[in-house]
Amino acid sequence: AGSRDAGPLASPEVIDLHPAPADMERLVIEGLRRDPKQLPAWFLYDDEGSRLFELICEQPEYSLTRTETALLEREAPAIAAALGQGVLVEFGAGSARKVGPLLEAMARQAAPAANPAPSPAPNPAPGQPAYVALDISASHLQEACDRLQRRHPQVPMLGICCDYSQLEALPSHPLLNGQAHLGFFPGSSLGNFEPAAAQELLAQLRHLLGPGGQLLIGIDQPKSRERLEAAYNDRAGVSAAFARNLLTRLNRDLAGDFNPQAFRYRARWQAAESRIEMALVSEESQRVQLAGQTWTFASGEPLITETSAKYGAEAFLALAAPAGWRGAARWSDPDHDLCLHLLVQAD
Ligand code: AVI
Repeated sequence: AGSRDAGPLASPEVIDLHPAPADMERLVIEGLRRDPKQLPAWFLYDDEGSRLFELICEQPEYSLTRTETALLEREAPAIAAALGQGVLVEFGAGSARKVGPLLEAMARQAAPAANPAPSPAPNPAPGQPAYVALDISASHLQEACDRLQRRHPQVPMLGICCDYSQLEALPSHPLLNGQAHLGFFPGSSLGNFEPAAAQELLAQLRHLLGPGGQLLIGIDQPKSRERLEAAYNDRAGVSAAFARNLLTRLNRDLAGDFNPQAFRYRARWQAAESRIEMALVSEESQRVQLAGQTWTFASGEPLITETSAKYGAEAFLALAAPAGWRGAARWSDPDHDLCLHLLVQAD
């Protein structure tokens, strides 16, 4: 079978469940009525925002992505052994650059007879991994799945464009039928949800993954104020451009007239909450049109674009327990900057 010409690889299917514009408008209005004003973090990820986030991950000050990638490469065989067989479901896949070592380690530990499949079958061979990527940015997701499929031609793949925090259920699809659902949530993205919402999200992921589902989740650890404030306000100004792009996106999608240059970017460590708060601070008192309404900003008033909480291992497991998860294993880099937790269902 290995010598058969399988022809060009088909693009993985991407199912589009992106929230409707009316939902976005409602969420923006809710967020701008809050005091302080704050929008859901996923609004940052239109096509340009996703591109800028990739660039943030390459900045010398932002080590989270490099640390997690190296940890996954080093520990992939142990993690694959702990996970067992099933379909990997990645939440917020972005560029899907982290999952490769896991897919390879899972394939290696599967039955050798199933290994030489030349091209993806609609269902994975017994024991072989399959991969499902969920992300909010449709075009980014298609590109990421295409690139990953070229690298791992034997792995059946599917993309789902959605806000996974609001998804009622994973769609019915052959890849998701009859195999254990192994959640993969790297990048410490849980930290971008407020603690109560983070706990709800952990419960939501448990619900989406179904009975017997497991969750491998990357959590950035608390560290010094200096390191964290530099990581979220890099010298090249990419973090600031990423935040300002939110205003450009709102102008385009919700008929706004924000002047992004009339806001200054700020990232500060809030020790009591163990989080970085990122905000665009109005440079002057101004009025902005958006979603058919006029919004006023006082001089110095922040619009919080995102928060990024950092949890030590005990604090994280305490957050996960009421959502029905318990820690089964964990792996960390030599400097203990980041922790990968494997969660299993508590009952
Ligand atoms: C995606 N998320 C985990 C990033 C973080 O570190 O909180 C988002 C980010 N925003 C600015 N820099 C990074």
